[in-house]
Amino acid sequence: MKAVVYTQYGPPEVLQVKEVEKPIHRNNEILLRVKATAVNSGDVRLRKADPFAVRFIFGLLKPKINILGAVFSGEVESVGKDVTKFKVGETVFGHTDMRFGAYAEYLCVPEEGSLTLKPAVITHAEAAVIPFGGVAALHFIKKAVIKPGQKVIVAGASGAVGSAAVQLAKSFGATVTGVCSTANIDLVKSIGADHVIDYTKDDFTKNGETYDVIFDTVNSTSFFRNVKSLTENGIMILSAAGMSEMLQGLWISKTSSKKVLTGVISHKAADIIFLKELIETGKFKPVIDKAYSLEQIAEAHVYVEKGHKKGNVIINI
Ligand SMILES: NC(=O)c1ccc[n+]([C@@H]2O[C@H](COP(=O)([O-])OP(=O)(O)OC[C@H]3O[C@@H](n4cnc5c(N)ncnc54)[C@H](OP(=O)(O)O)[C@@H]3O)[C@@H](O)[C@H]2O)c1
Repeated sequence: MKAVVYTQYGPPEVLQVKEVEKPIHRNNEILLRVKATAVNSGDVRLRKADPFAVRFIFGLLKPKINILGAVFSGEVESVGKDVTKFKVGETVFGHTDMRFGAYAEYLCVPEEGSLTLKPAVITHAEAAVIPFGGVAALHFIKKAVIKPGQKVIVAGASGAVGSAAVQLAKSFGATVTGVCSTANIDLVKSIGADHVIDYTKDDFTKNGETYDVIFDTVNSTSFFRNVKSLTENGIMILSAAGMSEMLQGLWISKTSSKKVLTGVISHKAADIIFLKELIETGKFKPVIDKAYSLEQIAEAHVYVEKGHKKGNVIINI
């Protein structure tokens, strides 16, 4: 089968399309014909080993996993003898968690993994992008327990995590403000934001408003300015927190009535199923920017690495 292989960390050119062995499923796994995957900000970090700490988990000198790609949508080609949840010919979408391997024509995933049947109302490309930003946003929004009527602000509202966070916060009944650049105002309004702040013209931490939840997906402003814009028992979510924001967050959570949520998310089928149901009821729509082929993967990485994508970037296979 064709797959995108990388054997060293580095620039997009380390990603090479090669012929490799088609994987064979175990008894508890399904073999998928991958129809679409996506290039996410997380894939870029793994390709470059940035931050350096990536190397402690994924290989100190060179990557231990040679095929990236964490999200997928595809068709079940065959199933292991113990598999009961999925049948040959069904279409599924999900996240590989730490196994990766979705930049390929075929992929094996355990039936108990983070996957479910693809909703009929969306394409493979739309389905493939949901488990990255959608699950990340859902993980934090569930932890923050957003209640109807609360004021939520999402910084980075035009990105993969941010565009999902805006829609999820709305579905929990919040009044949502999206923060984005001028070019993305219409997009952020179209996904349901009640208010939009153009960060190239206004700074939400200086407008005198306070918010019950600040979800900053891109570390857009200084940690302590963000904290000042929280209500007394407000919650700040920093999905892109580095070590210093994590430590500052722990300090604020311990010493004040405000709370800061950081950390790496985990992947569960329950979250994918939750998002699937929102899609089927029209409350969640994946935002798609550009689409590339497997052969154009390096080009897709160049684009995603710039950090300005609108929602998600697809790889059609
Ligand atoms: N904690 C976890 O487990 C976890 C899980 C998933 C993702 N993440 C992290 O979450 C972060 C966001 O990921 P993503 O995939 O959503 O990124 P992305 O899709 O690349 O989004 C970046 C978006 O933010 C906008 N932006 C840039 N600077 C901004 C600013 N100052 N204010 C408001 N918007 C701004 C960009 O558009 P413009 O430049 O045009 O404004 C772009 O649309 C990444 O650091 C990723 O690693 C963490």
